[in-house]
Amino acid sequence: MDFSNKTVWITGASSGIGEALAYAMAEKGANVILSARREDELQRVAKNCQQFHGTTLVLPFDMIDLALHASKVQEVIQTFGQIDYVILNAGVSQRSYVQDTKFEVYRSLFEINFFSIISLTQAILPVFQQQGFGCFVPIASVAGRISTPRRAAYGASKHALIGFFDSLRAEVYEQGIQVTTILPGYIQTNISLHAMNEHGEKYGKMDPNQAKGLDVNKTARAIVGAIQAGKNEFFVGGALEAFGLYVKRFFPGLLFYMIRKIKNT
Ligand SMILES: NC(=O)c1ccc[n+]([C@@H]2O[C@H](COP(=O)([O-])OP(=O)(O)OC[C@H]3O[C@@H](n4cnc5c(N)ncnc54)[C@H](OP(=O)(O)O)[C@@H]3O)[C@@H](O)[C@H]2O)c1
Repeated sequence: MDFSNKTVWITGASSGIGEALAYAMAEKGANVILSARREDELQRVAKNCQQFHGTTLVLPFDMIDLALHASKVQEVIQTFGQIDYVILNAGVSQRSYVQDTKFEVYRSLFEINFFSIISLTQAILPVFQQQGFGCFVPIASVAGRISTPRRAAYGASKHALIGFFDSLRAEVYEQGIQVTTILPGYIQTNISLHAMNEHGEKYGKMDPNQAKGLDVNKTARAIVGAIQAGKNEFFVGGALEAFGLYVKRFFPGLLFYMIRKIKNT
Protein backbone atom coordinates (compact mmCIF):
# COMPACT_ATOMS: atom_id res chain seq x y z
CA MET A 1 0.00 0.00 0.00
CA ASP A 2 1.42 3.35 -1.08
CA PHE A 3 0.54 6.56 0.77
CA SER A 4 1.49 9.02 -1.96
CA ASN A 5 -1.45 11.30 -2.73
CA LYS A 6 -3.57 9.51 -0.11
CA THR A 7 -5.56 11.65 2.29
CA VAL A 8 -4.79 10.91 5.93
CA TRP A 9 -6.79 12.70 8.63
CA ILE A 10 -5.13 12.65 12.06
CA THR A 11 -6.92 13.80 15.21
CA GLY A 12 -4.75 14.81 18.15
CA ALA A 13 -2.03 15.89 15.71
CA SER A 14 -0.76 18.79 17.85
CA SER A 15 1.60 16.65 19.96
CA GLY A 16 2.89 13.19 20.82
CA ILE A 17 1.88 10.18 18.74
CA GLY A 18 -0.40 12.21 16.44
CA GLU A 19 2.37 14.69 15.62
CA ALA A 20 4.82 11.85 14.93
CA LEU A 21 2.24 10.13 12.71
CA ALA A 22 1.82 13.36 10.75
CA TYR A 23 5.55 13.35 9.92
CA ALA A 24 5.63 9.60 9.20
CA MET A 25 2.67 9.88 6.82
CA ALA A 26 3.88 13.11 5.17
CA GLU A 27 7.28 11.48 4.62
CA LYS A 28 5.48 8.68 2.77
CA GLY A 29 3.89 11.23 0.44
CA ALA A 30 0.45 11.51 2.04
CA ASN A 31 -1.70 14.63 2.19
CA VAL A 32 -2.30 15.14 5.91
CA ILE A 33 -5.15 16.82 7.72
CA LEU A 34 -4.13 17.92 11.19
CA SER A 35 -6.80 18.26 13.87
CA ALA A 36 -6.70 19.12 17.58
CA ARG A 37 -7.71 22.15 19.66
CA ARG A 38 -4.39 24.06 19.80
CA GLU A 39 -4.19 25.74 16.40
CA ASP A 40 -0.73 27.24 17.04
CA GLU A 41 0.69 23.76 17.69
CA LEU A 42 -1.02 22.40 14.56
CA GLN A 43 0.54 25.25 12.52
CA ARG A 44 3.95 24.28 13.92
CA VAL A 45 3.42 20.65 12.90
CA ALA A 46 2.16 21.75 9.45
CA LYS A 47 5.30 23.85 8.98
CA ASN A 48 7.48 20.84 9.81
CA CYS A 49 5.52 18.79 7.23
CA GLN A 50 6.43 21.29 4.49
CA GLN A 51 9.77 19.53 3.94
CA PHE A 52 7.78 16.68 2.37
CA HIS A 53 5.81 16.73 -0.88
CA GLY A 54 2.18 16.35 0.21
CA THR A 55 -0.39 19.02 1.03
CA THR A 56 -1.23 19.81 4.64
CA LEU A 57 -4.54 21.12 5.94
CA VAL A 58 -4.84 22.49 9.47
CA LEU A 59 -8.35 21.77 10.72
CA PRO A 60 -8.63 22.73 14.38
CA PHE A 61 -11.66 21.77 16.43
CA ASP A 62 -12.62 20.34 19.79
CA MET A 63 -13.48 16.66 19.33
CA ILE A 64 -16.13 16.83 22.05
CA ASP A 65 -18.08 19.44 20.05
CA LEU A 66 -19.99 16.73 18.19
CA ALA A 67 -22.12 19.27 16.27
CA LEU A 68 -18.99 20.22 14.27
CA HIS A 69 -18.18 16.74 12.99
CA ALA A 70 -20.37 16.70 9.85
CA SER A 71 -19.10 20.10 8.69
CA LYS A 72 -15.45 19.13 9.30
CA VAL A 73 -15.94 16.01 7.15
CA GLN A 74 -17.41 18.22 4.41
CA GLU A 75 -14.42 20.60 4.65
CA VAL A 76 -12.02 17.69 4.12
CA ILE A 77 -14.03 16.36 1.16
CA GLN A 78 -14.20 19.83 -0.43
CA THR A 79 -10.41 20.19 -0.13
CA PHE A 80 -9.23 16.70 -1.10
CA GLY A 81 -12.23 15.03 -2.77
CA GLN A 82 -11.88 11.89 -0.65
CA ILE A 83 -10.64 10.49 2.67
CA ASP A 84 -8.42 7.39 2.61
CA TYR A 85 -7.42 7.04 6.26
CA VAL A 86 -8.62 8.53 9.52
CA ILE A 87 -6.37 8.10 12.53
CA LEU A 88 -8.57 8.56 15.61
CA ASN A 89 -5.80 9.47 18.00
CA ALA A 90 -7.04 12.40 20.14
CA GLY A 91 -7.32 11.21 23.72
CA VAL A 92 -6.71 12.05 27.37
CA SER A 93 -5.41 9.85 30.18
CA GLN A 94 -6.12 9.78 33.91
CA ARG A 95 -4.27 9.61 37.23
CA SER A 96 -6.72 9.09 40.10
CA TYR A 97 -8.15 6.38 42.35
CA VAL A 98 -11.81 5.39 41.90
CA GLN A 99 -12.69 6.44 45.45
CA ASP A 100 -11.41 9.99 44.82
CA THR A 101 -12.58 10.53 41.25
CA LYS A 102 -15.52 12.86 40.66
CA PHE A 103 -18.24 11.28 38.58
CA GLU A 104 -17.96 14.09 35.97
CA VAL A 105 -14.38 12.98 35.28
CA TYR A 106 -15.69 9.62 34.03
CA ARG A 107 -18.07 11.41 31.69
CA SER A 108 -15.36 13.80 30.45
CA LEU A 109 -12.93 10.98 29.70
CA PHE A 110 -15.61 9.01 27.88
CA GLU A 111 -16.63 12.13 25.91
CA ILE A 112 -13.15 12.52 24.46
CA ASN A 113 -11.88 8.91 24.41
CA PHE A 114 -15.08 7.22 23.27
CA PHE A 115 -18.18 9.24 22.29
CA SER A 116 -16.37 11.87 20.20
CA ILE A 117 -14.66 9.07 18.26
CA ILE A 118 -17.94 7.23 17.67
CA SER A 119 -19.52 10.45 16.41
CA LEU A 120 -16.67 11.27 13.98
CA THR A 121 -16.63 7.65 12.79
CA GLN A 122 -20.36 7.81 12.05
CA ALA A 123 -19.84 11.06 10.12
CA ILE A 124 -17.06 9.50 8.00
CA LEU A 125 -18.56 6.04 7.49
CA PRO A 126 -21.00 7.06 4.69
CA VAL A 127 -18.06 8.69 2.86
CA PHE A 128 -16.05 5.45 3.06
CA GLN A 129 -19.12 3.44 1.98
CA GLN A 130 -19.68 5.66 -1.04
CA GLN A 131 -16.00 5.48 -1.98
CA GLY A 132 -15.93 1.70 -1.50
CA PHE A 133 -12.72 2.08 0.52
CA GLY A 134 -11.29 3.75 3.60
CA CYS A 135 -9.47 2.84 6.77
CA PHE A 136 -10.24 3.67 10.40
CA VAL A 137 -7.25 3.63 12.73
CA PRO A 138 -8.41 4.02 16.34
CA ILE A 139 -5.52 4.58 18.73
CA ALA A 140 -6.64 2.53 21.73
CA SER A 141 -4.09 1.34 24.31
CA VAL A 142 -2.75 -1.65 26.18
CA ALA A 143 -5.05 -0.14 28.85
CA GLY A 144 -7.86 -1.32 26.56
CA ARG A 145 -6.89 -4.88 27.55
CA ILE A 146 -5.31 -4.34 30.98
CA SER A 147 -6.79 -1.78 33.38
CA THR A 148 -4.33 -0.79 36.09
CA PRO A 149 -4.82 1.24 39.30
CA ARG A 150 -5.55 4.99 38.84
CA ARG A 151 -6.74 4.38 35.25
CA ALA A 152 -10.32 3.09 35.82
CA ALA A 153 -12.00 5.64 33.52
CA TYR A 154 -9.18 5.65 30.97
CA GLY A 155 -8.95 1.84 30.85
CA ALA A 156 -12.73 1.52 30.59
CA SER A 157 -12.88 4.03 27.73
CA LYS A 158 -10.15 2.19 25.80
CA HIS A 159 -11.82 -1.21 26.41
CA ALA A 160 -15.02 0.31 25.01
CA LEU A 161 -13.20 1.70 21.99
CA ILE A 162 -11.70 -1.68 21.10
CA GLY A 163 -15.12 -3.33 21.46
CA PHE A 164 -16.82 -0.76 19.23
CA PHE A 165 -14.26 -1.13 16.46
CA ASP A 166 -14.26 -4.96 16.64
CA SER A 167 -17.96 -4.82 15.74
CA LEU A 168 -17.49 -2.18 13.05
CA ARG A 169 -14.61 -4.12 11.46
CA ALA A 170 -16.85 -7.14 10.98
CA GLU A 171 -19.78 -5.04 9.69
CA VAL A 172 -17.81 -3.19 7.00
CA TYR A 173 -15.31 -5.83 5.90
CA GLU A 174 -17.21 -6.64 2.72
CA GLN A 175 -17.55 -2.95 1.87
CA GLY A 176 -13.78 -2.63 1.40
CA ILE A 177 -13.32 -0.73 4.66
CA GLN A 178 -10.41 -1.56 6.96
CA VAL A 179 -10.17 -1.13 10.74
CA THR A 180 -6.67 -1.25 12.21
CA THR A 181 -6.87 -0.85 15.99
CA ILE A 182 -3.62 0.23 17.63
CA LEU A 183 -2.67 -0.77 21.18
CA PRO A 184 0.31 1.35 22.26
CA GLY A 185 2.16 0.52 25.45
CA TYR A 186 4.30 3.15 27.19
CA ILE A 187 5.31 5.74 24.59
CA GLN A 188 7.50 8.79 25.29
CA THR A 189 4.97 11.65 25.08
CA ASN A 190 3.53 14.28 27.43
CA ILE A 191 0.31 12.27 27.91
CA SER A 192 0.70 12.18 31.70
CA LEU A 193 1.12 15.98 31.82
CA HIS A 194 -2.20 16.34 29.99
CA ALA A 195 -3.95 13.57 31.99
CA MET A 196 -6.92 14.36 34.26
CA ASN A 197 -6.67 14.13 38.04
CA GLU A 198 -9.62 13.25 40.31
CA HIS A 199 -11.10 16.74 39.82
CA GLY A 200 -10.72 16.77 36.05
CA GLU A 201 -7.77 19.17 36.25
CA LYS A 202 -4.44 18.59 34.50
CA TYR A 203 -2.26 16.10 36.39
CA GLY A 204 0.80 17.98 35.12
CA LYS A 205 3.55 15.50 36.02
CA MET A 206 5.75 13.33 33.82
CA ASP A 207 5.29 9.62 34.52
CA PRO A 208 8.50 7.55 34.83
CA ASN A 209 6.93 4.89 32.56
CA GLN A 210 6.28 7.45 29.83
CA ALA A 211 9.71 9.04 30.28
CA LYS A 212 11.39 5.71 29.56
CA GLY A 213 8.78 4.56 27.02
CA LEU A 214 9.25 3.74 23.34
CA ASP A 215 10.46 6.56 21.10
CA VAL A 216 7.45 8.32 19.56
CA ASN A 217 8.84 8.42 16.00
CA LYS A 218 9.67 4.70 16.12
CA THR A 219 6.11 4.17 17.35
CA ALA A 220 4.66 6.17 14.46
CA ARG A 221 6.69 4.26 11.87
CA ALA A 222 5.53 0.94 13.36
CA ILE A 223 1.90 2.11 13.23
CA VAL A 224 2.25 3.15 9.58
CA GLY A 225 3.69 -0.31 8.84
CA ALA A 226 0.74 -2.00 10.56
CA ILE A 227 -1.76 0.07 8.55
CA GLN A 228 0.12 -0.75 5.36
CA ALA A 229 0.08 -4.46 6.23
CA GLY A 230 -3.70 -4.32 6.76
CA LYS A 231 -3.50 -5.56 10.37
CA ASN A 232 -6.74 -5.85 12.33
CA GLU A 233 -5.00 -5.04 15.60
CA PHE A 234 -1.46 -4.02 16.39
CA PHE A 235 0.49 -3.70 19.64
CA VAL A 236 3.42 -1.27 19.78
CA GLY A 237 5.47 -0.79 22.93
CA GLY A 238 8.06 -2.36 25.19
CA ALA A 239 8.74 -5.86 26.51
CA LEU A 240 6.94 -5.23 29.83
CA GLU A 241 3.60 -4.39 28.17
CA ALA A 242 4.02 -7.24 25.66
CA PHE A 243 4.59 -9.59 28.61
CA GLY A 244 1.51 -8.16 30.35
CA LEU A 245 -0.70 -8.86 27.31
CA TYR A 246 0.66 -12.41 27.11
CA VAL A 247 0.06 -13.07 30.82
CA LYS A 248 -3.46 -11.57 30.66
CA ARG A 249 -4.35 -13.89 27.80
CA PHE A 250 -2.90 -17.13 29.11
CA PHE A 251 -2.57 -16.64 32.90
CA PRO A 252 -5.18 -14.01 33.86
CA GLY A 253 -4.99 -14.86 37.58
CA LEU A 254 -1.28 -14.05 37.58
CA LEU A 255 -1.93 -10.79 35.75
CA PHE A 256 -4.52 -9.67 38.33
CA TYR A 257 -1.96 -10.45 41.05
CA MET A 258 0.72 -8.47 39.18
CA ILE A 259 -1.40 -5.34 38.69
CA ARG A 260 -2.29 -5.30 42.42
CA LYS A 261 1.39 -4.50 42.97
CA ILE A 262 1.19 -1.37 40.78
CA LYS A 263 0.54 1.50 43.15
CA ASN A 264 1.53 4.98 42.07
CA THR A 265 2.41 5.05 38.40
N1 LIG B 1 1.76 7.92 25.29
C1 LIG B 1 1.37 6.71 25.64
O1 LIG B 1 2.08 6.02 26.41
C2 LIG B 1 0.09 6.12 25.12
C3 LIG B 1 -0.15 4.77 25.38
C4 LIG B 1 -1.33 4.20 24.91
C5 LIG B 1 -2.24 4.96 24.19
N2 LIG B 1 -1.98 6.27 23.95
C6 LIG B 1 -2.99 7.03 23.22
O2 LIG B 1 -2.40 7.75 22.19
C7 LIG B 1 -3.18 8.91 21.89
C8 LIG B 1 -2.27 10.12 21.81
O3 LIG B 1 -1.68 10.35 23.07
P1 LIG B 1 -0.22 10.98 23.26
O4 LIG B 1 0.55 10.06 24.07
O5 LIG B 1 0.31 11.45 21.97
O6 LIG B 1 -0.57 12.21 24.22
P2 LIG B 1 -0.65 13.80 23.98
O7 LIG B 1 0.66 14.33 23.52
O8 LIG B 1 -1.25 14.35 25.21
O9 LIG B 1 -1.65 13.93 22.75
C9 LIG B 1 -3.04 13.98 22.89
C10 LIG B 1 -3.61 14.67 21.67
O10 LIG B 1 -5.04 14.67 21.77
C11 LIG B 1 -5.52 15.99 21.50
N3 LIG B 1 -6.76 16.23 22.22
C12 LIG B 1 -7.01 16.05 23.54
N4 LIG B 1 -8.27 16.43 23.82
C13 LIG B 1 -8.82 16.85 22.66
C14 LIG B 1 -10.10 17.37 22.29
N5 LIG B 1 -11.07 17.55 23.20
N6 LIG B 1 -10.32 17.70 21.00
C15 LIG B 1 -9.35 17.53 20.06
N7 LIG B 1 -8.13 17.04 20.34
C16 LIG B 1 -7.88 16.72 21.63
C17 LIG B 1 -4.40 16.91 22.00
O11 LIG B 1 -4.43 18.15 21.32
P3 LIG B 1 -5.00 19.53 21.90
O12 LIG B 1 -4.65 19.61 23.35
O13 LIG B 1 -4.30 20.55 21.05
O14 LIG B 1 -6.47 19.50 21.62
C18 LIG B 1 -3.17 16.13 21.56
O15 LIG B 1 -2.86 16.42 20.21
C19 LIG B 1 -4.24 8.98 22.98
O16 LIG B 1 -5.46 8.49 22.51
C20 LIG B 1 -3.69 8.08 24.07
O17 LIG B 1 -4.71 7.52 24.87
C21 LIG B 1 -0.84 6.87 24.40
